[in-house]
Amino acid sequence: VSPDPTLQSVEDYARAARARLDPVVATFLDSGNADGLTLARNRSAFGDIELNAHRFVDVATRSTAIEVLGSTVAAPVLIAPTGLHEIAHPDGELATTRAAGAAGTVMTTGTMATRSVEEVAATATGPVWFQLYHLGEDVLEVFVRRAEAAGCAAICITLDVPVQIRGREHDRRNGFRASKGRPLANFDTARGHFPASLSSDEVRGWKRRPLRPVSLELVAWLRTITDLPLIAKGIMLPEDARRAAEAGVDAIYVSNHGGRECDGLPATIDVLAEIVDAVASSCEVYLDGGIRRGSDVVKALALGAQAVLIGRPFWWGLAVGGEDGVAHVLELLRFEIEEVLAGIGCTDVRDLDRRYLRDS
Ligand SMILES: Cc1cc2nc3c(=O)[nH]c(=O)nc-3n(C[C@H](O)[C@H](O)[C@H](O)COP(=O)(O)O)c2cc1C
Repeated sequence: VSPDPTLQSVEDYARAARARLDPVVATFLDSGNADGLTLARNRSAFGDIELNAHRFVDVATRSTAIEVLGSTVAAPVLIAPTGLHEIAHPDGELATTRAAGAAGTVMTTGTMATRSVEEVAATATGPVWFQLYHLGEDVLEVFVRRAEAAGCAAICITLDVPVQIRGREHDRRNGFRASKGRPLANFDTARGHFPASLSSDEVRGWKRRPLRPVSLELVAWLRTITDLPLIAKGIMLPEDARRAAEAGVDAIYVSNHGGRECDGLPATIDVLAEIVDAVASSCEVYLDGGIRRGSDVVKALALGAQAVLIGRPFWWGLAVGGEDGVAHVLELLRFEIEEVLAGIGCTDVRDLDRRYLRDS
């Protein structure tokens, strides 16, 4: 329960976070790339989908628990991978990790995190996934071994930042450098976190190690070097989903990076069904982008997603209230899911399918 009665929805947290954060930081978190068309579509597309309300169903009790990659989670809303949590709160990723654990869900930590994967895993009381950027096969292999040793439950490779862009237009205009002055804890050679010849400064400047495009061969190679479940993040086309599944990934993660990379892509929810149809028999499918309401989660699951992930919503919780803020955002979404389930006559999120959607 929120101590502040004005915080009753994810949008309330968005407003409170903007009021609290340095406007340059708030712009970095909230904005999309270029004209923000994809960012806006990620939201508005949910409004184009309508639910079917089934009556004569006893909905006195509803279940939101699901399984993802063999772990049971209390609700189908997981923490999306992002770096730099310390920008929003001094406890950084540790606050987010504790909140995810308290809510009984997955924490995904990123290559660019301000706490190392070892620290995050040691703090976690639930599953931790580790997100990788392609900084070279040697770096990937070190990270995979570290994720395994730390006890991570899955590896998530991000496909939709194939080269390092110059930074987003609004951040360039504002002179904002995301990692300036922040620890990139996974590259902290002083603490022995990164035994390869790559320093925090090199990563920060992307001097010697620019991001590289992730080839299908690289995904297949990752498959050969680890038994951990593999997640392919950034898939937007059924054909790519099929090819990634054939290369051995365990989950397809439909994402346009929250509209932060290539502007002009469609909303993730609009491409979900065709991707589910292509691969759901062999893979789990997840979605992120624009999830702000329990009804958005219900729509994504009805279209075949196993789970959704949230980016900005947890950031807003983190900025407003650290661990408690993130935990409350997750709780609000779970309450809303339960409410919507009651409203549409469904007792278990695992039963959601296209019967609960009009015109699907
Ligand atoms: C501030 C910020 C930083 C992000 N950093 C990463 C990252 O390091 N790696 C990654 O794969 N995705 C990153 N993302 C994208 C998220 O994983 C996710 O795809 C996106 O936020 C989902 O959209 P939503 O914010 O509308 O929920 C970042 C997103 C935000 C808002």
